[in-house]
Amino acid sequence: MKTRIRIDVGAVISPIDDRIYGSFIEHMGRAIYTGIFEPGHETADEYGFRRDVMDLIRPLGLAQIRYPGGNFLSGYNWRDGVGPRGGRPVRMDAAWFALEPNLVGTDEFLQYCERLGTTAMMGVNLGTGSPAEAAALLEYVNGVLPTAYADMRRANGRELPYGVKLWCLGNEMDGPWQICAKTAEEYSRAACETAKLMKWIDPDIELVACGSSYRAMPTYGDWEKEVLRHCYPHIDYLSLHQYYENNDDDIPAFLARSIEMEEFIREVAGYCAEAKKGQSADNDVYLSFDEWNVWYHFRKSGKEPPLWTVGRPIEEETYDGADALLVGLMLNTLMRNSDVVKIACLAQLVNVIAPIMTEPGGGVRVQPIYHPFLHASRHGRGEALRSDVTGDTYDCAVRRDVPYVDCAAVRHADGEIVLFLINRDMANGHPCDIQIAGQTPDAAVRAEIIEWLSMTGSGSANGQPEQMDTRLSQSGSQPNGNGMLTITLPAFSWNMLRLASSK
Ligand code: AHR
Repeated sequence: MKTRIRIDVGAVISPIDDRIYGSFIEHMGRAIYTGIFEPGHETADEYGFRRDVMDLIRPLGLAQIRYPGGNFLSGYNWRDGVGPRGGRPVRMDAAWFALEPNLVGTDEFLQYCERLGTTAMMGVNLGTGSPAEAAALLEYVNGVLPTAYADMRRANGRELPYGVKLWCLGNEMDGPWQICAKTAEEYSRAACETAKLMKWIDPDIELVACGSSYRAMPTYGDWEKEVLRHCYPHIDYLSLHQYYENNDDDIPAFLARSIEMEEFIREVAGYCAEAKKGQSADNDVYLSFDEWNVWYHFRKSGKEPPLWTVGRPIEEETYDGADALLVGLMLNTLMRNSDVVKIACLAQLVNVIAPIMTEPGGGVRVQPIYHPFLHASRHGRGEALRSDVTGDTYDCAVRRDVPYVDCAAVRHADGEIVLFLINRDMANGHPCDIQIAGQTPDAAVRAEIIEWLSMTGSGSANGQPEQMDTRLSQSGSQPNGNGMLTITLPAFSWNMLRLASSK
């Protein structure tokens, strides 16, 4: 069956929040040390940060970078990472069994974000930490008054407050692997009281409370309800985290996982809507999908880098074309659910489950997952439009009736429409009729292709995991008179179609 895709420019799902194009850098593995920070590297700037890495981060147009963790956050004392470097302690990081030299801390990271042209999404430690320590950090970062912690920042060389707006109330506090994990009730009480204190100190901030660490957690659902019940009036977002794996080498099942992600989002949005009913507060709690990616290659490799060293090279995934396709599918899912997902962070950014990889003292390269993120971030902004897709489906180990073709549609303010199209079929191209309809039922919009960027995931299918064909497969115009385009999506491909519109 030919696939039919119908987009109606009047069927707006929601404006897409730019903050769905965020990422994450944790004190983990080589993300910081020999990742973004390597004094002595030939490209290092005057602060010791690698310019070659910055040159690959900047085009991603990140709205925010989450920092400093992750699991690391739950044992981190922010005071260790501020002030003269000579006085900073080396600590045992029990989250990742590494040594933390504290050469990069709050000031270095926030100033790095400024040089990158992005913002930070900061976390406060609710593992070993306390509400008082969270408030002290907030005052250090954003304080404008002549108070102790704002003065400490000034003494450390930073006169102006950083004005960090987004803050996470801990990280994955439901997980037994977390330093000082909590029950739902323990976490909810701590998060609620920390949130109150932080917002009294700085009413301009927005707060993210921890949802479950992933959907299959045994407490998933109950955890969300309890956190929302306690914290609803004091928080702005609830977090979702999810990584997908292809351990069985079953690519059709792997590529179907984005449908689970969609179900996960709608379920958690449902918990938020339900919780609002029981509240007198009139705020809305939206979703922050602040950890998402593919993650399994390193675990499968059985590598065990030496413990208690600085920058242990852990979780250095080598991504393939199938991973890039799933990342594209997950991005489509975020766009289609932009009515409820307002923040998202690709986890992570450099060296650790990352699109950008460095060699210590050497070069830097991007992985296949870099490309769909780059193009979605550059062209997937504006309003998300509903797309109706009918076409062939397949059955696989994890579900039935998986559509081969997945579509997210976005309209820019200038009328350009961008379609992100993925063909999950490893063997066959799929011809598609694409109809762009106007705001009134029969008012066709004349559409022409101004750019068609297509990448195939063939590298993983033919046993060359690092390869992915990222050449432009077609570019140019294809005029048509009736608002209908016909294209064939190559087998196993991610595609971005930019359409000029006369309307
Ligand atoms: O992103 C890697 C880790 O995954 C984070 O530290 C943690 O929050 C999650 O389990």
